[in-house]
Amino acid sequence: MDPIERLIVAESPGHAGHVLIINSPGLAETAQRIAPAVSMWCDDRRDADEAPADLLLERLEESSLAGIDLVWLRLPKALSALDDYAERLASWTAPGVRVIAAGRQRSMTHSMNGVLGRHFDAVSASLGVAKCRALRASLPKKGGLRWPREGLHPELGIGVIAHGEVFATSRVDDGTRLLAELCGDIHGDDLLDLGCGSGILATLLARANPGATVHAVDVSRAAVESTTLTAEANGEHVQVHWAPGLDGWETGGLDVIVTNPPFHRGIAKDSEPALAMFDDAARVLRPGGELWCVYNSHLPWRKRLNEKIGGTTVVRQSPFYTVTRTVAR
Ligand SMILES: C[S@@+](CC[C@H](N)C(=O)[O-])C[C@H]1O[C@@H](n2cnc3c(N)ncnc32)[C@H](O)[C@@H]1O
Repeated sequence: MDPIERLIVAESPGHAGHVLIINSPGLAETAQRIAPAVSMWCDDRRDADEAPADLLLERLEESSLAGIDLVWLRLPKALSALDDYAERLASWTAPGVRVIAAGRQRSMTHSMNGVLGRHFDAVSASLGVAKCRALRASLPKKGGLRWPREGLHPELGIGVIAHGEVFATSRVDDGTRLLAELCGDIHGDDLLDLGCGSGILATLLARANPGATVHAVDVSRAAVESTTLTAEANGEHVQVHWAPGLDGWETGGLDVIVTNPPFHRGIAKDSEPALAMFDDAARVLRPGGELWCVYNSHLPWRKRLNEKIGGTTVVRQSPFYTVTRTVAR
């Protein structure tokens, strides 16, 4: 167990009827010692792959949450994600439920107490332990669900439906917008949105390429669910995959990849995920295939794309973002 998980256990009662663990696969064995029933939800596919398969829930919905009386939650970074989880937990778990949510103090804010307070009548915080803190919530308020949420973007001709865990939720981030405005001119028979988030780019590619196969991949469960909802709401079909990259994809099989890569995994700043995506793209694009990428202009991605994939040109720039087109060798 890491310090967050140790604090969650220390803050919990010694017995429960049905424990739900969210985004913390390391807690499975401990939960099984204190409760006859344990369920688990992992947003990140890499966490899900570490979790005991028989504990994993198919969906975080009313029927799977009924009767849960203790929830162990690793706090997400975004308040919208916490709001989405708290709303579902308050609406669907047992009236006597206790939620223990913990994280590292440096990534927690007072607003998190307020978000939990929207959905629970009793919210309190633990003392700091090993640079972590737990928030306790009980007495759920039963109310209507506000997630997933829809945002309408007539300037792009798209409605976006997203869960709270998704990048930019139902808004269009400025970097995404720069690439989204070009999607009408990106063509192929087999196209992919790598790190699809709410599915904006995948949906616009499907619209611009009737009859083509459009795939969307994301490591986040909330993202793949949101992409499916966004594509359907806009009358498009996208094949959505929950995966941490493109392992197992046919070499040289794709005409086009678009991506707005992450530079964070969870809370740590990290270039590795983006660079791993470029390696995936180099393998999966056919020679002459194109990678369209948008990124923060200060990042050295043009040089890396030239090295890893092929000739890279800048197609569009705003004060903060750059869109490049790379032709695979
Ligand atoms: C900056 S967001 C972009 C989302 C969306 N394309 C947009 O522009 O709104 C990056 C996305 O990459 C996803 N991601 C991060 N690491 C990944 C990985 N190894 N494999 C697949 N997706 C990943 C994140 O979950 C996130 O949805």
